[in-house]
Amino acid sequence: MSFKNIAVVGTGYVGLVTGVALSDIGHSVTCVDIDEQKVELMQSGVSPIYEPGLSELMTKNIKAGRLSFTTKHQQAFAGADAIYIAVGTPQKEDGTADLRFIEAVADHIAEHLTHYAVVVTKSTVPVGTNDYIKSYIDKHTDVPFAVVSNPEFLREGSAVHDTFHGDRIVIGADSVVAGDLIEEINKPFGIPVFRTDIRSAEMIKYASNAFLATKISFVNEIANLCEKLNANVDDVARGMGQDKRIGNKFLNAGIGYGGSCFPKDTSALVQIAGNVEHEFTLLKAVIEVNYKQQRLLVEKAREHFGSLRGKTIAMLGLAFKPNTDDMREAASIILAQELILAGARVVAYDPIAMENARNVLPAAVDYADSAFAAIQGADTAFVVTEWDEICALTPGDFKANLKEPVVFDGRNCFNIETMKEAGLNYYSVGRPV
Ligand code: UGA
Repeated sequence: MSFKNIAVVGTGYVGLVTGVALSDIGHSVTCVDIDEQKVELMQSGVSPIYEPGLSELMTKNIKAGRLSFTTKHQQAFAGADAIYIAVGTPQKEDGTADLRFIEAVADHIAEHLTHYAVVVTKSTVPVGTNDYIKSYIDKHTDVPFAVVSNPEFLREGSAVHDTFHGDRIVIGADSVVAGDLIEEINKPFGIPVFRTDIRSAEMIKYASNAFLATKISFVNEIANLCEKLNANVDDVARGMGQDKRIGNKFLNAGIGYGGSCFPKDTSALVQIAGNVEHEFTLLKAVIEVNYKQQRLLVEKAREHFGSLRGKTIAMLGLAFKPNTDDMREAASIILAQELILAGARVVAYDPIAMENARNVLPAAVDYADSAFAAIQGADTAFVVTEWDEICALTPGDFKANLKEPVVFDGRNCFNIETMKEAGLNYYSVGRPV
């Protein structure tokens, strides 16, 4: 195969990981971002996001001359066979996706394109957006180009691994030639390719995230029911997961899903459906269950203590999931707000998300230097994110350090029996007390 020249616009985690991975399989990649400082940082091989393995790959491919960064679209687009759009599509107040950044990239493409190129959309965009991008650019240029939808399925925290070991690469193209080019570019990954039309590819992305969110809310509802019926959701999920049609992934009960994708994409899909007068009842329920689930630990603490006024709560884990510093839509934000409102004091700890947490948690929150320090002198502990360091605390640590022997575990990290044996009141999700 021949290696291609590729421009990637946007260096968030999707754009940066995509650009770096494409350079690693041999292509010549230029990543564009409007943030000059960030571009300088990346050019020196430093990743602006916490993503295991990414900096090493950046350094390797910059040195090999296959990867570079610029603030200039014109420079990146010169000679590019494909231009990847990987800018954010934040959520607007009404739940719809904000396409401002996509339109800005389309403007740059229309302005600077001098030869045929394939425009590839990596960003998650509502069904029909690629058609809109095509007509938008078309209006402003006479240069021929094609548009391809190539949605991303990687997870934060394991983005590099997922890019090289994905289950499928979806290519939605209305032009066979353009689809073939993107398939050829991706060939060295050795991942099965699924070809379809543009709109179906756009829908695959939303449907996949909505389905995974549904799995989580479903198991959380089963967990809530297990609590009332004295069954154990861990075993229920394991028993269900052995049926290959169900699968054992994404069946961990807990305090719901957060992050930059599931909450945003589920709301957007409800809106997309609403636009064509389709009420997506099931997905609305999934969102509703998640809303309640994110508040669960406060409810449980209220039931146990009555009032939370004056209690000091060690909040263990702040990021929306382990191995990321991302605080977007993290349950910790809601829990901290509710606790402070109830008159409690919150002492928070996260191995790497503390800096980001300070910007989004209520100002009244205090911070500890370690999980162990957070529980010292606290009345009780909330386990919010299942970091290894947090799950490594022992029942003895909790018993010796908490003023009251009560732990509320939102991620089912600990063994019920050993917690009980240590003399703790241990509340988890969907498991017998
Ligand atoms: C998710 C999808 O998993 C990716 O496939 C997708 O590409 C990405 O969104 C995206 O659209 O960009 P991500 O948000 O990084 O990836 O995180 P996940 O690992 O999927 O976790 C999302 C949330 O679900 C976390 O808060 C996690 O704690 C929660 N979760 C996950 C559960 O509560 N239970 C589970 O069994 C699994």
